[in-house]
Amino acid sequence: WWSHVEMGPPDAILGVTEAFKADKNPKKINLGVGAYRDDQGKPFVLPSVKEAERQVIAANLDKEYAGIVGLPEFTKLSAKLALGENSAVIKDNRIFTTQSISGTGALRIGSEFLSKYSKTKVIYQPTPTWGNHVPVFKFAGMDVKQYRYYDKSTCGFDEAGALADIAQIPEGSVILLHACAHNPTGVDPSREQWKKISDIVKKRNLFVFFDMAYQGFASGDVDNDAFAVRYFLEQGHNIVLAQSFAKNMGLYGERVGAFSVVCADADEAARVASQVKILIRPLYSNPPVHGARIASRILADPALNKQWLGDVKLMADRIITMRTQLKDLLAKEGSTRNWEHITNQIGMFCFTGINPQQVEKLIKEHSVYLTKDGRISVAGISSNNVAYLAHALHQVTK
Ligand code: LMR
Repeated sequence: WWSHVEMGPPDAILGVTEAFKADKNPKKINLGVGAYRDDQGKPFVLPSVKEAERQVIAANLDKEYAGIVGLPEFTKLSAKLALGENSAVIKDNRIFTTQSISGTGALRIGSEFLSKYSKTKVIYQPTPTWGNHVPVFKFAGMDVKQYRYYDKSTCGFDEAGALADIAQIPEGSVILLHACAHNPTGVDPSREQWKKISDIVKKRNLFVFFDMAYQGFASGDVDNDAFAVRYFLEQGHNIVLAQSFAKNMGLYGERVGAFSVVCADADEAARVASQVKILIRPLYSNPPVHGARIASRILADPALNKQWLGDVKLMADRIITMRTQLKDLLAKEGSTRNWEHITNQIGMFCFTGINPQQVEKLIKEHSVYLTKDGRISVAGISSNNVAYLAHALHQVTK
């Protein structure tokens, strides 16, 4: 029955983990998927999450279905985390938020909604962007196009290229913006650059899809990292927003996320809500509750919230320490390449700038696993493997 089905390629990111697992080298390092590790290289359950989970279990709740759009307390708190304590949009009741199956699920609901209701079915994404952004929107029937974002020569933001390309995007199109800690490059626009992007997006009458998968990971501060989203709203853009709690709460496998639509008024938000429900029901009916209960506790309880913000800072700071160590150790190895971008870039990832042949060598000769584009998850580096990594990186780039 399925003889015509051809073998597909492994996933560009998750396939790296499969290859890593099959490698017998005891020195192997997985810098593929963006998943935080502690300094022993072990998965990290945040202490605030452990405490919130203990409270959830002690509350002895039932296992009934959530509504189609998830737990109301969770969606309210998610929106507040993104838009801020004093958000006028929230006060005016002109936002609709649904729980989602983490960030990818939020993007997928958003892409289905745009594909059905947006004026144009074209979305412009930065070059490069997270590998999954392309199929998420394509599979929903959107046409995916690009705008320049990353400057290879500086390993930084291509301001001139981005602004020039955005200025050419046809009116009414959708533009995808990474709210903070751009994946895969680790390169974010500065506040001044965000203001320029907002101006040009407004001039072109584009609709903004913000993907915020790393709130807290760029600067260690969740409010700071929400600057772009909040600024765009202040400027009068009506946006949609995907949020993930995989990284900032370490709830990867619990699949906790949210998708929001900012509307003109409460009436429009109610109509949008009714249509999003119609899209979700045949997709997965309703979302899982356990992780959303944990996230709600953390966001609602002042003591837990404080503890969580400390946990986020701890993760962000450990990543920064690893960036510095890697850069210093590369110099010690004798590398004469410019590695400044390792510490200039932010968030979970470093876009090393090495070419596909060098990536191949790192994997084959050193058992250092990373994605083909040269991205490494800095969160996978630890005190135990940073020297080995610096040595391997120098060997393939000298
Ligand atoms: C990543 O880019 O590594 C993460 O967003 C995990 C994923 O699902 O790809």
